[in-house]
Amino acid sequence: RVLSVVLSGGAGSRLWPASRQAYPKPFMKLGGSTLLQQAIERGQACGTGDLMVVTNKDHLFLTKDVLRQMADPPKATLLLEPKGRNTAPAIALAALQCAKDFGGDTVMLVLSADHLVPDVDAFVASASQAFRLAEKGALVIFGVSPTNPDTGFGYVEVEHVSRNSQPVKRFVEKPDLETAREYLATGRYYWNSGMFCFTADAIIDAFERNAPEVLTAARRAFASAKTAGDTVQFEVHDFGLQPDISIDYAVMERADNVQVVPAKFSWSDVGTWPSVAKAQTSDASGNTMPYDTIAIDTTGTHVQIESHGPKVVATLGVHDLVIVDTPDALLVAHKNSAQRVKQVVDVLKARK
Ligand code: GDD
Ligand code: MG
Repeated sequence: RVLSVVLSGGAGSRLWPASRQAYPKPFMKLGGSTLLQQAIERGQACGTGDLMVVTNKDHLFLTKDVLRQMADPPKATLLLEPKGRNTAPAIALAALQCAKDFGGDTVMLVLSADHLVPDVDAFVASASQAFRLAEKGALVIFGVSPTNPDTGFGYVEVEHVSRNSQPVKRFVEKPDLETAREYLATGRYYWNSGMFCFTADAIIDAFERNAPEVLTAARRAFASAKTAGDTVQFEVHDFGLQPDISIDYAVMERADNVQVVPAKFSWSDVGTWPSVAKAQTSDASGNTMPYDTIAIDTTGTHVQIESHGPKVVATLGVHDLVIVDTPDALLVAHKNSAQRVKQVVDVLKARK
């Protein structure tokens, strides 16, 4: 039995102003449907029966809307968090719920609600490889060939990069630029795609060994959760006692039974504006913008207009910019500063 677990949290603050606290990345439409729906369909394509979505309680209705609009929605359990506590607690809670509802030997395919994977068939092929390893007790990650020393990813070291799955020698989450450059030069690293596969028992055991404080706190939050119909709502106090730590730091950097399946699929973590731009078709000058933009002497620039009503947009003599216009906020940034867009969000938060 295989269960899809979709992590649909995180504010996506580097995609401000299109992604907000009230309307975050999973609900952003890209290529016709929301990223959340695409993640759910990716799981379905792998033959996962049931679905679990871990999300903020404020996004219950947005999430239900996404499910309702699907032609063939899976049977879903929604785990509702009172606030974000990062991916380690989210996965620990999903594992406890999974073990309770379906049994500890259930394979969990953990997907992010903010990825673009255009070739679903290729993804299915990699996932079935992962299922076989997970059934034997491994913690499986999907490795992507790195193209640049991006400091926003986890790096996965192996003996020799190959087309087959293999044990992970070392996992390093978000190294600094210099380290990432060194890793790239060795040719022995993958990027961690941020999707995972393991049985509920295997990941619970991995928490026990590598991050017992996460498991203890998750057990406590799980014990006081309220189940109503298809939702499980966590109590604010107990939930908040969980440490804010990602699965990468809590488990993947520490565990000794991690296996990597090389991704046969193309993948994009739509984490920043340049990665959103990369996922779209660009014109001859490398611009991604609405067709009616007047672009003169403009290269490598991404323009996205989400305000209502017609608006003429013109760019002149600019290069490698990101321009995102929404009804109440306008962002103009250099692509090189895209990682730092969350600084704007921090300033806004401080003003509140
Ligand atoms: N439910 C829930 N609650 N989901 C969360 C939370 C939370 O508190 N925090 C993050 N998520 C979800 C995000 O919505 C996203 O789908 C996924 O978990 C990963 O979180 P990110 O915050 O986007 O992580 P990251 O991009 O910095 O790093 C991870 O992904 C990279 C690839 O995209 C790591 O796994 C890296 O190692 C990896 O390379
Ligand atoms: Mg991400």
